Amino acid sequence: MSNAKQIEYWNGDAGKRWAREDGTMARLLRPVSEALLAHARPEGSRHALDIGCGCGSQSMMLAEKLGAGSRVLGVDISGPMLQVARDNAAVPGADRADVAFLQADAATHAFDTGNFDLIFSRFGVMFFDDPVTAFSNIRKAMRPQARLAFCCWQSMKENDWTRIPVQAALQHVAPPEKSDPHAPGPFAFADSQRVQDILQSSGFCDVAVQSFTTDMRFDKAPTLQQSVRELAMIGPVSMLLANQEPEVIERVFSSMEEALTPYYQDGALSLPGAIWFVTAMTD
Ligand SMILES: C[S@@+](CC[C@H](N)C(=O)[O-])C[C@H]1O[C@@H](n2cnc3c(N)ncnc32)[C@H](O)[C@@H]1O
Repeated sequence: MSNAKQIEYWNGDAGKRWAREDGTMARLLRPVSEALLAHARPEGSRHALDIGCGCGSQSMMLAEKLGAGSRVLGVDISGPMLQVARDNAAVPGADRADVAFLQADAATHAFDTGNFDLIFSRFGVMFFDDPVTAFSNIRKAMRPQARLAFCCWQSMKENDWTRIPVQAALQHVAPPEKSDPHAPGPFAFADSQRVQDILQSSGFCDVAVQSFTTDMRFDKAPTLQQSVRELAMIGPVSMLLANQEPEVIERVFSSMEEALTPYYQDGALSLPGAIWFVTAMTD
């Protein structure tokens, strides 16, 4: 089955952890959300699709932007994350678009043809086994002159919030087997030329990629020690720590604390993040 590994991953511990930490993630990624939403220019859209919507915070932000009379569909493969999305959407809100959620693989789902005038995604499109087939499927669901806007991570070396913890962890745990840098995962779209080629091969036009940089601020935990533990729950470092013995994990935390001390100020860990904002149109 296409995307089977991702379906297992996002319905397992990783998806459950995101579901538990939805508030933290929404706060951490808020600067990205606001900038991406402005970049997507959603005003005037009547029917938007949020791909890899996760716990739905972006679908709700889109619904508020589009307003009553419009519709937003969030699609995701993760049952635990969609449960949070549905619970949050059940809270009544004034003057927002109708929001619905669908558990499906966006790469293969038979969406109605020519249905959406905006496709949006915050970090939800880097996980397809076959990106050209996936984006071709998504394009078919779009109206003529419709807009695609998503964000994805630049390379790990541009993203200190993940590079520094991974380097600290690799002092104590074995590196993962060398894998294809384009394999589905958070950094699969780090090469912006590849992203442009994928979208053009999928039939999109006016493809544009813009760099966006921001500080990733971990401000919930009041000490460096606690911030380090919060940071270690997300991204590639969390994958390196999965199934490690508690003593090894403690040693990794110590190395992370040492490496991250310069980034901890006024009760918050603040680390540079680098992102691509990608837009494209249908003919
Ligand atoms: C990094 S999370 C981002 C979630 C959300 N957009 C956010 O920013 O909070 C990636 C999301 O993409 C979803 N995803 C991965 N592959 C997918 C696919 N083929 N179809 C639909 N959703 C997918 C995952 O389940 C996960 O919720």
